[in-house]
Amino acid sequence: MNAADGQKIAMRGAGYYSANTVGAKYVIDRVGDLVVGAVAKMPRLADGQPFAIADFGAADGGTSMDMMRRLIGAIRATEPDRAISITYTDLPHNDFSTLFRLSQGLLGPSTEAPLAETPALYIFGSGTSFYRQIVPDNSLSFGFSATAMHWISKRPCMIADHVQAVGAAEAERERFRAQSLLDWETILLSRAHELRSGGRLALANFCVDEEGRYLGHTTGVDMFDSFARHWRDLLRAGRIGESEYVNATFQQFYKTPDEFAAPFRDPASSVSRAGLKLETMFTMVTPCPYAEAFRTHGNARDFAQAYVPTLRSWSETVFANSLDPSRPAADRAAIVDDLYGAYEADVAQAPEGHRMDYVHCVTEIVKS
Ligand SMILES: C[S@@+](CC[C@H](N)C(=O)[O-])C[C@H]1O[C@@H](n2cnc3c(N)ncnc32)[C@H](O)[C@@H]1O
Repeated sequence: MNAADGQKIAMRGAGYYSANTVGAKYVIDRVGDLVVGAVAKMPRLADGQPFAIADFGAADGGTSMDMMRRLIGAIRATEPDRAISITYTDLPHNDFSTLFRLSQGLLGPSTEAPLAETPALYIFGSGTSFYRQIVPDNSLSFGFSATAMHWISKRPCMIADHVQAVGAAEAERERFRAQSLLDWETILLSRAHELRSGGRLALANFCVDEEGRYLGHTTGVDMFDSFARHWRDLLRAGRIGESEYVNATFQQFYKTPDEFAAPFRDPASSVSRAGLKLETMFTMVTPCPYAEAFRTHGNARDFAQAYVPTLRSWSETVFANSLDPSRPAADRAAIVDDLYGAYEADVAQAPEGHRMDYVHCVTEIVKS
């Protein structure tokens, strides 16, 4: 794809996403206490009104399923008969089929009763972007999102010699920042329409934290620099062309806590005027489970073979879609395999320092 704006964003399907992103699940589980606490603070709904939940950017829904069980348990603890709906949202080409099969118990662990068999729980999927309003005005009780809103609505430019804004030239990075700040306002204003009065949002978003840490950049090797280096190696080897090299630009930006908080600090902002208040905000680092496991088992090859697929689950489409579509599909697949193969060999050979620690900014937002 050569245009600077649209990028087909997708996690790898067929259950590969949640099966290979145990760390993303840990992040959601860690936000569980905040979610349960938020529900306890909400005004009681009128009789007959459903408690409507939405998970924005849910992928295949596998990583949030335990948290959803907890959330439903918290609602039902005080209101055993309350009807509850969950609208799982993601982009239209998301693998909703896997999401439905996971929630119906046709895929995944069979240790628990399928979520969809919970009495008076109604599950929906929506392929509408979170940059638009997804559910009707004043209908949403609780909105949740994890690890999704760093995907911005469009790429303001391509990054000439890196893959992500964290490694971009200053001017490029500022264009990504401006797009991301505009997008944050759009996300919040859409949610402000959807939320009932007293409704809440719990959002765990990737960020650059107070110490400058971000995903894969906490200590040791910088993950995005590694991607960029291996991609550059393919260019140097003549395996990919210059425009393919540049096209591999992640449509992402990591905001700082200050940037997340800015629209709430100004009482005259459109977000404040829409009635949204930031009640809680904190950052958290969730250790890379693969690097932690490596500290115990010490087998570099096993580490590489477990670690690189987790990177692949969310990054593969960026590289695959940057390739010239006139190449035969097998050629494109082979190039992508070479990229991850080189990364895996790199980790297997020098495992120390490779780790994808997650760095999140967690916000709890209430609509007055
Ligand atoms: C890394 S996954 C996170 C999935 C899950 N929430 C979790 O925490 O494990 C990011 C998800 O955000 C989705 N996404 C990206 N941009 C989106 C948008 N504009 N609207 C809805 N979903 C979006 C992607 O398709 C992807 O499924």
